Amino acid sequence: MQVTILVGSQWGDEGKGKIVDLLSENFPIVARYQGGANAGHTVEIGDDKYILHLIPSGILRKDVICVIGSGVVIDPIALLEEIELLEKNNISVKGRLFISHNAHLIMPYHKLLDSINESGKNKIGTTGRGIGPCYIDKYARKGIRINDLLNRELLAQKIRMNLDEKNLLLKNIYGKDELNVEEIIEQYEAFDKAIDPYIKDVPAFLNNAISEGKSILLEGAQGALLDVDFGTYPFVTSSNPTSGGACTGTGIPPNKITNVIGIVKAYTTRVGEGPFPTELLDATGEKLRKVGSEFGATTGRPRRCGWFDAPLVKYSQMVNGIDSVAITKLDVLDHFEEIQVCTAYEFEGKLLKNFPTDPDKLNLVKPIYTSLPGWNSDTTKCESYNDLPQLTKNYLEFIANAAGIKIEIISVGPKRKQTFYKK
Ligand code: GDP
Ligand code: IMO
Ligand code: MG
Repeated sequence: MQVTILVGSQWGDEGKGKIVDLLSENFPIVARYQGGANAGHTVEIGDDKYILHLIPSGILRKDVICVIGSGVVIDPIALLEEIELLEKNNISVKGRLFISHNAHLIMPYHKLLDSINESGKNKIGTTGRGIGPCYIDKYARKGIRINDLLNRELLAQKIRMNLDEKNLLLKNIYGKDELNVEEIIEQYEAFDKAIDPYIKDVPAFLNNAISEGKSILLEGAQGALLDVDFGTYPFVTSSNPTSGGACTGTGIPPNKITNVIGIVKAYTTRVGEGPFPTELLDATGEKLRKVGSEFGATTGRPRRCGWFDAPLVKYSQMVNGIDSVAITKLDVLDHFEEIQVCTAYEFEGKLLKNFPTDPDKLNLVKPIYTSLPGWNSDTTKCESYNDLPQLTKNYLEFIANAAGIKIEIISVGPKRKQTFYKK
């Protein structure tokens, strides 16, 4: 029996969706613990491609139960769209999708405030999904939760209370039109009918499952460097994608966790603003983006691309307690004569030992690179570690040593079968 946390180890989009889909063959339950529809987790099965934003990627296996924990912020519109899309593709979620009664709801004013906050000079480059403003209300103890949908009177009262304040802000501070409170109440009352069958006491459900010996996979969204506490603040998301967030976001206690798997891209990408020491703003960066199809799964924005950053992954290993990693998108490096790996940073003429998350410092560090020869051959058809070219094995060994990680899974393409274990 395993209770495994799967985390993004860099700035998100490491290929978590693909690996969750793969591993969920052996996990009867998969749960999301933080974030919201800012996530875009891609799973390719045969010729079909699914991008999941809120529902755990395990949903594509028909016998897997999927759970959305209380740490997730739920946009009912996005959720119902996703359910509809799955049902259209003959993937029924009935009886196997559960949503925590304590999860917070994204409201129309959260999305509006997200876009207003991003229209100024100091933008973060958010996904515009209302994530930050929703978590602000959660921590200000003004949020509206799934549970509130069950009591019409209380729901209307809470929406009115929030709207009183938000409309003042919209009108007097931002010079925008006020939102119509009755329309929002009506809209959310309608969500209640649609969402009702999925509501569950998630901590009780998950802890019962553990006591019955069932394995659970906890699917992180975003990545460690986007963590509000351990990431490159303020250029982060508003939740805890790191492994600690899996306990607070589901109600599974830390002593029930058996292991942590980190998903590590064979190079580095980032979407949105913020420091990125190994970013390549030249033709090589363009090539990584093109070969790796590095465009956001949620917003379609081009992802910023750069070489593998070992100090960053080492830091991520530390704050997540990563036991083993899956290296993804190794095949994207098939097309490079020479591959660079950042092994350390220089800051003001001195060697930096630890990864600095402070953006002012991280913006000024100079990556120190080791150059490795590229293998210049197709790895997408490799079916085992032994099938890989020797130069590819050398690259993997080099990054594993430099970042202090243990590689267990290797991914050489977006499909399920383009994956193998390094025995
Ligand atoms: P996530 O947010 O971590 O789930 O990752 P995304 O789905 O946003 O981005 C990863 C992208 O890379 C998706 O388009 C995947 O289909 C694709 N992908 C995953 N693993 C591999 C791989 O090993 N090789 C290649 N070429 N593509 C991959
Ligand atoms: P997955 O789960 C990559 C980034 C945004 C922005 C910052 C804050 O697919 O890996 P937010 O909308 O969360 O307030 O934006 O975080 N970001 C992601 N980047 N992958 C994601 O999710 C992301 N979710 C948010 O681009 O820089
Ligand atoms: Mg993604």
